[in-house]
Amino acid sequence: MMKTTIRQKMAFGYTVMVLLVVVVSLYAITQLNRLNRFINTALTVDSEMLNLTEDLINSIFIQVSHEKKFLITKDMAFQRLFEEKEKEFSDKLNTLAEIADSQEKKGLLEQIRSLYDQYLSLVKGEFKAATLEHKSNEARKQALVDSVTEKIKQLTEVAQLSLNKKMVASQKVGLRGARLAIIITVLAVIFGSAFAFFITQGICLPVQRLKEGTYHIAQGDFSKKIELKSQDEIGELSAAFNAMCDRLRELDQLKVDFVSNITHDLKTPLSSIAEANQLMLDGVSGPLSPQQKHLVNIIKEDTARLTRLIDNLLDLSKMEVGMLKYDLKPGNISPLVKESIEFIRLLAERKKIRVSYSEEGILPMVLLDGEKMDQVLINLLSNAIKFTPEGGKVIIQTKGVREFPINGKGITLSEDEAIQLSITDTGIGIAREDITRVFDKFYQSGSGSNKKGGAGLGLTIARHIIQAHGGQIWAESEPDKGSVFYLLLPALQEDA
Ligand SMILES: Nc1ncnc2c1ncn2[C@@H]1O[C@H](COP(=O)(O)OP(=O)(O)OP(=O)(O)O)[C@@H](O)[C@H]1O
Ligand SMILES: [Mg+2]
Repeated sequence: MMKTTIRQKMAFGYTVMVLLVVVVSLYAITQLNRLNRFINTALTVDSEMLNLTEDLINSIFIQVSHEKKFLITKDMAFQRLFEEKEKEFSDKLNTLAEIADSQEKKGLLEQIRSLYDQYLSLVKGEFKAATLEHKSNEARKQALVDSVTEKIKQLTEVAQLSLNKKMVASQKVGLRGARLAIIITVLAVIFGSAFAFFITQGICLPVQRLKEGTYHIAQGDFSKKIELKSQDEIGELSAAFNAMCDRLRELDQLKVDFVSNITHDLKTPLSSIAEANQLMLDGVSGPLSPQQKHLVNIIKEDTARLTRLIDNLLDLSKMEVGMLKYDLKPGNISPLVKESIEFIRLLAERKKIRVSYSEEGILPMVLLDGEKMDQVLINLLSNAIKFTPEGGKVIIQTKGVREFPINGKGITLSEDEAIQLSITDTGIGIAREDITRVFDKFYQSGSGSNKKGGAGLGLTIARHIIQAHGGQIWAESEPDKGSVFYLLLPALQEDA
């Protein structure tokens, strides 16, 4: 495929449009010029000719009358008048010969001239021999005058006809010009719109794809490649984008490998420490003084924390590469919730936090991996207790729902039903801008004062587990008032 850039495509489109405009204008100008020429000749030649021929006919009649009056009265004044008219007649004949624009008109004019000359020579002869009898010439003169007028009338008709023809022709030129101008304008509009549409599509669609691609990257999914066939700047951009994705994926894999190797290496010595520790507490190495016992207990607690952190890291690195296996079985969520509450009861009592649980109606069965779900519930509950000051409350509720709100919008589930579990606390809450980020890896909300041990992995793991169950997890919160964490798990289909 030939490589055309957006710049070239745009330049091509604009050039075509400019050319169309130039063509339309040039065409309009030539047509107007033609029209102008027609009208000009019609006015200067044909109308002028019509006026002159009318004058000629009048003039010849006046000449005849002067000539007759002279012959009767022999008054020289009539001869002068005749001669004036004769000069005027011949001047007009000359003008006509000058403007005549066709062979036919020229021929007629020559005939008029020669007939008139014959008439003149007869009259001139009579003027010279004014006393002689002139009756003999009368019939010839009359015939000549008749022929002259006849020819002049013919000339008038020819001029009138050519005037009419020019009018019809100019009308045609005008009409054709208008029609062609309309056609070219319509073509220009169609081409312009199509060009604008394709250029806009050509830019917007790939940009949309790129936007979707970046969205996946933002979600931490580097596997999405952008397939763009275009060879232009956007094609190059998407190639660069794909290269970036590949590099990010490599780096991500490197990190996952690193974490899983290091956690394996850390776990082995840690379990030896925990075992040795337990043996000491059991008194295998001899009885411990109360002070020694206190210190060994501190070692025990911290070893447990370290073990949990490493377990979490290991879990997460497995989840991220899809290596963690789930053992999903139909089950009921409420025993799991009750167990988890029991698990954290001691923690809650230490902080004098009241924990209550309520269940609305009969809950549908769900597909569960009990152990993983426990992990989620315990993390959510221990978070609630961790981030709630002494004397606070933690309320756990479960109910069946058909619709649930995400960002205030009601979303209808495609499944028949779902279980919604909420854990509400009266704790420190989460700032608005952190409400989605708390699910990010290692993310801990707030300043140092809010950080209460932990690594910021619990919610990330919880989200992975819930998504593997086909569910959703999200939070709502008001700083200093408390937070609500929601879980949504699709109910088991009847026929499943
Ligand atoms: N109920 C809550 N109230 C207020 N803030 C919370 C609550 N639950 C979570 N957070 C905030 O979200 C952050 C992330 O929670 P997450 O459970 O992922 O990590 P953690 O509890 O800090 O550490 P870990 O769970 O790995 O031991 C917490 O550090 C805290 O800032
Ligand atoms: Mg936690």
